[in-house]
Amino acid sequence: MSVPLVPVLRAVTAGALSAATVLTVAAPAVAAPADAERPLVIGHRGAAGTAPENTVSAFKDARAAGVDYLEIDVQLSADGVPFLFHDDTPARTTNVAEVFPGRENDPVTSFTWAELQQLDAGSYFGPRFAGERIPHLDDAAKVATVNTGVYIEIKSPRNSPGIEQVVADALAQDKDWSKLLEAGKVTVIGFDEASNRTFAGLAPEVPLQQLTGSVPDAATIERWAGFVDSVGTNYRALDAEDVARVDAAGLDLGVYTVNSPEAVRHVLDLGVDMVTGDFPIQTDRLLDGLDPYPGDHGVEISGAVNDVPGDDVQYGTGEHVLLANTGPRTVDVSGWILRDAANNVLTVGAGYELAPGEQLRVYTGPGTDTDEASYNGGSSSVLNNGGDSVALWTDEDRLQDVFAN
Ligand code: G3P
Ligand code: CA
Repeated sequence: MSVPLVPVLRAVTAGALSAATVLTVAAPAVAAPADAERPLVIGHRGAAGTAPENTVSAFKDARAAGVDYLEIDVQLSADGVPFLFHDDTPARTTNVAEVFPGRENDPVTSFTWAELQQLDAGSYFGPRFAGERIPHLDDAAKVATVNTGVYIEIKSPRNSPGIEQVVADALAQDKDWSKLLEAGKVTVIGFDEASNRTFAGLAPEVPLQQLTGSVPDAATIERWAGFVDSVGTNYRALDAEDVARVDAAGLDLGVYTVNSPEAVRHVLDLGVDMVTGDFPIQTDRLLDGLDPYPGDHGVEISGAVNDVPGDDVQYGTGEHVLLANTGPRTVDVSGWILRDAANNVLTVGAGYELAPGEQLRVYTGPGTDTDEASYNGGSSSVLNNGGDSVALWTDEDRLQDVFAN
């Protein structure tokens, strides 16, 4: 499937926001079919680019834009409660160091539900999200609708023994989950083949997706086709032969984590069925022929330079992110933020104005500021070599652009 995008209309505003409640629909529990002309859009960890990942705020961001699904990661607390969290430890996305000093790098599954509820899972992303709690699995179903369903990733199942049964029971017994399932708006996904087989045995009626870092050989896909409906893969190495092998097995194909407009166009050209990304609102707008960044000032991320082969872009070297003013007006970019997918942040220094056509290099490491270069002094690193993205925000929290390396 190759879908030409309609031209971007720069001046069009966002459509009316939808906050529909869940409706009961008497339909078989099958995944809603992908539109032949448009892939399904799935918000990664809710909408991790615009709100703290795996939180109710992120789920509401995805729902407000009416994206097809929001994706969540579920694990089991030490006392068996299903909670939504991606990482193996609470260090990166919570204030665990303040609340439970010394437990920063403990398995997040070693915390009880009551302990998890004491953590702030929003402040890491920004002060306006302070106090955001780690959600229960069922919180996602409460936000979801028949428009915006849920992709439930069973995350690191070896750390959460019995989680397949817990998820299957929730889908069967909780009224919100049951309604979504009946409406074809729930899919369970996971990297662990054995866990997926277990889940398929427990809940064969629930659509299931095998996640993978890259598309394997035909024999492996054929084996997966015995218990899953779709394959979800990293998009970066995907090629037409991979797409054909998945298609030949009769499975749908999804890709993650697709964050920039260029990356969205690339996977559309490859003909994928589902697109998962941290910026689902912006992806949805792009697919609708709208400007993904309404209100942008014309300053874009035009490149990221990593001068240490095999190393990440990080401080102490010449690595930097390049900004370019492609618009008609001079723009003051002082205090603007560059944030990568792991929430590493670079800040543009004070006193930087970009005239039309001008560029600015924003360095991670130390250096002497000039008219063309702003240095962060070695306090941050951004853009993982294995494939990452970085977003440009104004000092007033307005998203301007997303770049993927
Ligand atoms: O949707 C698949 C994607 O979520 C898998 O990667 O590490 O973000 O859970 P990860
Ligand atoms: Ca995930």
